[in-house]
Amino acid sequence: MSEATIIDGKAFAEALRGRIGSEVSRLKADHDLTPGLAVVLVGEDPASQVYVRNKGKQTLEVGMNSYEHKLADDTAEETLLKLIEDLNNDDKVNGILVQLPLPDHINESAVLAAIDPAKDVDGFHVVNVGLLTTGDDKAMVPCTPWGCLMMLKDQLGSLSGKKAVVLGRSNIVGKPMAALLLKESCTVTIAHSRTRDLADECRAADILVAAVGRPEMVPGDWIKPGATVIDVGINRIDAPEKGEGKTRLVGDVDFTSAVKVAGAITPVPGGVGPMTIACLLRNTLAATCLQKGLNVPEV
Ligand code: GUN
Repeated sequence: MSEATIIDGKAFAEALRGRIGSEVSRLKADHDLTPGLAVVLVGEDPASQVYVRNKGKQTLEVGMNSYEHKLADDTAEETLLKLIEDLNNDDKVNGILVQLPLPDHINESAVLAAIDPAKDVDGFHVVNVGLLTTGDDKAMVPCTPWGCLMMLKDQLGSLSGKKAVVLGRSNIVGKPMAALLLKESCTVTIAHSRTRDLADECRAADILVAAVGRPEMVPGDWIKPGATVIDVGINRIDAPEKGEGKTRLVGDVDFTSAVKVAGAITPVPGGVGPMTIACLLRNTLAATCLQKGLNVPEV
């Protein structure tokens, strides 16, 4: 059997950022507007620091303004809530993202609920979650699942009638991914750690989205021949073969065995990851236009 098509998320995201950059230039020329994205990081989680740095860099690269707020690990919840209130009221800020996870002493739901839904470029506010699950086009859609959906539609065209299995039930990926696939008329199963016969569930899938955060958990023989596999996992594991103390990134899918069975598959790194930030920039562009009563450009 021939090997799967490798879905190049890096190139896809680069092209998307290029189109976003053109729309940002147009917004500036026609309306003297520059979208602004505020990113809030509480604490010093190394992975979160890398994400936030990349977000800031790519925001500037497409011509938007980036505002970074780095708060100490022991920041009081009310200090964070006050910052969010200030950002809600700041006209220069069109999008607000609070990097998750937050330290344990901060109530995540309270923080997400404090963000103005119109500036909620993560799509995590209950208003946006509700709009998405009721199939309303006005929803701000969470970035990672949206990037996955874009790649799936690019690969497969219509998804209607396909059997999709989403492995993982997080609020950030699993649940919104399932809602998006349902909106595309897939038959959707959400599988998770308590699912019985997990391998059989996965084997039935035309589309398999793995988002569990467990390194290489899905072997090739869980995959239906020809299926499209989207690997959301970004797991750092030891790589003694590269030298002492070295590590490497792997997904939730065992790429080596899966690539021999799947019809198409996203690699890690270079698959889903780059699409997430590109979708965040797209949401910031859309939020800016909606706040100013302008049409949202198709990108
Ligand atoms: N942490 C991991 N993924 C995300 C994301 O998409 N948004 C936010 N805010 N935090 C995250």
